[in-house]
Amino acid sequence: KKIGVIMGGISSEREISLLTGQEMIANLDRSKYEVLPIEINSKRDLIDKTAGIDFALLALHGKYGEDGTVQGTLESLGIPYSGCGVLSSSVSMDKELAKKLIRFDGILTADWINVASMEELAAANVERLGLPVVVKPNSGGSSIATRLVKSQEAIEEAVAEALHWDESVMIEQFVGGDEITCAVLNGKLLPIVSIQANSDFFDYESKYQDGGATEQVIELPADVHARVEASALGCYKALKCSVYARIDMIITDGVPYVLEANTLPGLTKNSLLPKAAKAAGITFSELLDYIIDYSLE
Ligand code: DAL
Ligand code: MG
Repeated sequence: KKIGVIMGGISSEREISLLTGQEMIANLDRSKYEVLPIEINSKRDLIDKTAGIDFALLALHGKYGEDGTVQGTLESLGIPYSGCGVLSSSVSMDKELAKKLIRFDGILTADWINVASMEELAAANVERLGLPVVVKPNSGGSSIATRLVKSQEAIEEAVAEALHWDESVMIEQFVGGDEITCAVLNGKLLPIVSIQANSDFFDYESKYQDGGATEQVIELPADVHARVEASALGCYKALKCSVYARIDMIITDGVPYVLEANTLPGLTKNSLLPKAAKAAGITFSELLDYIIDYSLE
């Protein structure tokens, strides 16, 4: 089977995608697959460079990669690909739409207001969210242009910055507590990983710098574990995910609040999903086998 590892891309998470791609290339089992690295540098590249592959292993993150566009193109080209489908990818990439959907299913997520301009911000009642708030590009990833804001005055600057990255910006109530992440593989929860960032929150540096955060598999009390599992699998289902995804949450007083779902979560050497898989006894190489096999089911 000729596997094209689709990496790079044109989103703000390009560098992370290249790292995810490198890890995939290093770990794909060569006794099973022929591996073809495919670096995407423009929208056209996907069409021009994927001819002849049997399967597209997606190492892309963010816009034009994780948001359903690439998935739709591959559908049209008749090339099977890894991970969630078109609808799930695009809905999950839109943080606001995803929050609306999961709330409808009774899953807890912090309150928020989205704005598309400084005028909308001026007219919005952001005071009702209290402080601090987290300001983020609505379809962003890796915490790029994401700020933890502790005063009303600073909200304006954070929104202006995030508007450079996205046409919609989310201002979200900050939920204090313990950050965890839940990797889901083929509808089943992998061991839960707790995150202790060495900064105010799990920002870009703490995500990707060695030693930027302490991430470890944790055992939660049974009742809390059950709530986390219900939220994670509830999100996976509400957002129509398949194959794999990673749901990020904050636990406050034993109650999980969902931050977001990632349909093409990072698989770099510092990433969370490989750690969760390892704790379940699944090597990186086996994880890729599962992803490919479940995607083809
Ligand atoms: N958006 C990054 C790649 C993640 O969720 O892991
Ligand atoms: Mg994300």
